[in-house]
Amino acid sequence: MLAVAVLAAGKGTRMCSAHPKVLQPLAGATLVDWVLQSCEPLNPQRRLLVVGHQGERVQQHVQRRHQQVEFVLQQPQRGTGHSVQQLLQPLADFTGNLLVLNGDVPLLRSTTLGRLVEHHHQSGSAVTLLTACLEDPKGYGRVFCDEQQRVRAVVEDRDCTAEQRRNRLINGGVYCFHWPALAAVLPCLKADNQQGELYLTDAVGLLNPATQLTVEDGTEISGVNDRGQLAACEQVVQQRLRQQWLAAGVSFLDPASCSLSAGTRFGQDVVVEPQSHFRGSNSIGDGCRIGPGTLIEDSRLEAEVEVTFSVVRQARLARGSTVGPFAHLRPGAVLGEHCKVGNFVEVKNSHLGAQVKASHLSYLGDARLGRGVNVGAGTVTANFDGTSKHPTTVGEGSSIGANAVLVAPVTLGRDVTVAAGSTITKDVADDALAIARCRQVEKKAWHKPAAPHPSNATPGSETEPSSQDQDST
Ligand code: UD1
Ligand code: CA
Repeated sequence: MLAVAVLAAGKGTRMCSAHPKVLQPLAGATLVDWVLQSCEPLNPQRRLLVVGHQGERVQQHVQRRHQQVEFVLQQPQRGTGHSVQQLLQPLADFTGNLLVLNGDVPLLRSTTLGRLVEHHHQSGSAVTLLTACLEDPKGYGRVFCDEQQRVRAVVEDRDCTAEQRRNRLINGGVYCFHWPALAAVLPCLKADNQQGELYLTDAVGLLNPATQLTVEDGTEISGVNDRGQLAACEQVVQQRLRQQWLAAGVSFLDPASCSLSAGTRFGQDVVVEPQSHFRGSNSIGDGCRIGPGTLIEDSRLEAEVEVTFSVVRQARLARGSTVGPFAHLRPGAVLGEHCKVGNFVEVKNSHLGAQVKASHLSYLGDARLGRGVNVGAGTVTANFDGTSKHPTTVGEGSSIGANAVLVAPVTLGRDVTVAAGSTITKDVADDALAIARCRQVEKKAWHKPAAPHPSNATPGSETEPSSQDQDST
């Protein structure tokens, strides 16, 4: 029987942040998400999360993303040992093993946790801790063992003597305890240390036998106490994600310049060009070509979509669509098959049917465009009257001339043609041609009036025609 407890009540003073440390972002999720996720493959019977500092926020976040987590409040926060003391009551009847994880150690691999639990079973120890041998052990608790490799004590960096500090074997903040043994010693913890806190590491020294398992890859136990360590962890996660997708058939032309989120899924033969970034949860279909210079967030791209130098957020793109360069697809943009959204086109909350083309300089907001509609350069939906947003509908096969303004709410039928430069304020019937602009006037043999003498001129008047030349129709 295995229960998992994640310690997440601390403030994270060294982050200098208004947010609780365990909610700091890492590759599109938060620290605590990564920690909780890492123990899922072990199928724990119970999952407990100790919350305290901004506990409600942490609880709300975790409840939305993880199933069956029991929340335990630690108030005030008097150290990691005190944090685990809060489990005495909820785990009163529990007799199995308890895997304790620090909420700020996000890079652990599930396989490593599995090995720790296995090692613990086989050794029959009261506690097995995960350790690492680090080049630079600064800041971590040091682990001291006897000749039989039994753990004798864990001493915090700040409580170490200069001699002890030279020990490079460190405590990873991950422990597998035989819970009844831990429960028996938890009440004996004392705060006689530099921070005046109750240390979980002191419980290790009170348990017998205590063993340790050293991880090969020291980066796995990286703890996040400050922004520098957070940035270093981000690099590690990014590297892992890119490796994972390279192995699964995605090409990155310059992997180090791209960033991924854990929630992004790629099909086969996707090509990701330099400086492309994926955030939130995305699905990128087979054969898509993304980038260079592109941001994709919470979007779904079917196969063979191309996006170049563009931003795509909360959008859906059907097979074969092309976007960019320099396009902006905003939330609710839905592109049918083989659509083309070109340079300097912004699409928001709009459905474009198959083979719609909006190739240049347009804004399409709150619009529905039927199959095959051609949107001329510079066309704009005027969807906002200063108070509310209104819809625009354009039937299939219609063609909107360049620089048209479609003033919403407005509906254009099928196979409508809108003349270039029109400001359309009324609905247009199927098959009609709509022209809504001044007729061109041509004055034959018209000459500019002679320039007045500079001393009589009013500023700016030199090149303007006199009023009698203006067309009043
Ligand atoms: C801890 C270990 C240290 C180890 C390191 C590994 C102790 C005393 N020290 O040090 O040996 O090398 O982790 O990363 O355990 N927390 C609570 N309640 C509290 C205090 C902390 O829930 O009252 C939580 C924090 O939210 C955090 C975790 O416990 O997720 C670790 O706390 P932190 O203060 O970061 O411990 P370290 O000094 O890093
Ligand atoms: Ca820490």
